[in-house]
Amino acid sequence: MSSTPGSRELFKRAKRSIPGGVTYSIRYFEPYPLYVSKARGQKIWDVDGNEYTDYWMGHGAKIMGHCYPPVIEVARKYLELGVHVGLPHELEIRLAEQICRMVPSVEMVRFTNSGTEANMYVVRLARGYTKRKEIVKFEGCWHGGYDALHIAVKPPYERLNLGVTEEAVKDTVILPYNDLEIVDREIRKRRVAAVFVEPVAGAGGMIPATPEFLKTLREACDDTGALLVFDEVITGFRLSPGGAQQIYGVRPDITVFGKIVGGGEFAVGAFGGKAEVMSLLDQDKYPSPHDRVFQGGTFSANILTMAAGYTLLSELEKRPEVYVHINTLGERLRREVSELFEKHRVTGYMTGIGSLVGIHFTPIFPKDIKTAQLMKNEEMHRRYFRHLLENRIIALTQESQHFFISNSHTVEDLENLINVTEEFIKIEKHR
Ligand SMILES: Cc1ncc(COP(=O)(O)O)c(C=O)c1O
Repeated sequence: MSSTPGSRELFKRAKRSIPGGVTYSIRYFEPYPLYVSKARGQKIWDVDGNEYTDYWMGHGAKIMGHCYPPVIEVARKYLELGVHVGLPHELEIRLAEQICRMVPSVEMVRFTNSGTEANMYVVRLARGYTKRKEIVKFEGCWHGGYDALHIAVKPPYERLNLGVTEEAVKDTVILPYNDLEIVDREIRKRRVAAVFVEPVAGAGGMIPATPEFLKTLREACDDTGALLVFDEVITGFRLSPGGAQQIYGVRPDITVFGKIVGGGEFAVGAFGGKAEVMSLLDQDKYPSPHDRVFQGGTFSANILTMAAGYTLLSELEKRPEVYVHINTLGERLRREVSELFEKHRVTGYMTGIGSLVGIHFTPIFPKDIKTAQLMKNEEMHRRYFRHLLENRIIALTQESQHFFISNSHTVEDLENLINVTEEFIKIEKHR
């Protein structure tokens, strides 16, 4: 606290005009959040001039690190030429073509301003296409704040979030993540419009779906006519150029994107998939507004976001070494911290795939999100978060930590994180 008086003052001020002092509650941590003055690469600086190694990385949007020069450069150019015009332009076509090329299950795509919005439109699109009502989501999965999907995010899963009505979620079916048997049975006995799944649960603790789980979903959807929706807001263009679906070898009908699609710097969401499904949005095919599925938005596909997204994705397509670097660091972090838990006989587990890393202070390995959420030692997580912060490292979030590794992170950054974590494990051992 002695080194962050500026943040303390700003938080005090923020609380007077912003509920809770923050615009997204997960950004709050004790005793007050940091107020940022600058961000570059893997580093951020607070208003008091302290430097931090950042693994929060703009909620995972920054696969190349902060202020990636080619993205900033193209953004600067379009700031001069026109940022948001409200009419079509070539850049949205370029980005759409780029996404379709990198993610083969996506034949057509539409842009939104957030992942929440994209998921919301996909619920409607799936219901419009299948003429069915029920949607499936999984315990602990997070698809943004849209009512029909904003349920069973945190335990107790059956409890509704204040303001979400029973009517809004009456057609949402909650099923356990990574549980093949129950899920297969429940999908087959219903008339489901769409199954929404995060191939790697992000906010739920970087818990990967098992390959069998995703295959089971694919088969159950094929056999029943439900659409399989992969929410790749986190995993898209991060786990591989083709996202999680490329790694798992399972093709969804619709994919939802966000974060990286805006160049990591600008607000964005997108959804795309089979042309036959996406064509329900086509005003040419369906001239009556009542016969087509609505999607739009004042700032959707604005020039700045499209230019930044196209620049980043076209580069990622050509630079496999980026994936080698971030995945290697992620694997090393998981492996070495797991070894430290064993060496010091402290209970803890590492999860994730590639550059998505989760740490869990649970008594057993969290193979599903429920275990991670219900069995975690909350106090220990808070202590770890504080320990990292005191060592000028930022992880996401205070309640349970995960790490987004970017191409800017170095081997030295990682070794420092591992050393700082070992110090923590040793302290915990003697508690
Ligand atoms: C898997 C997933 N889906 C959807 C969202 C919501 O996206 P946004 O915050 O852009 O609305 C998030 C946000 O982190 C996410 O992680």
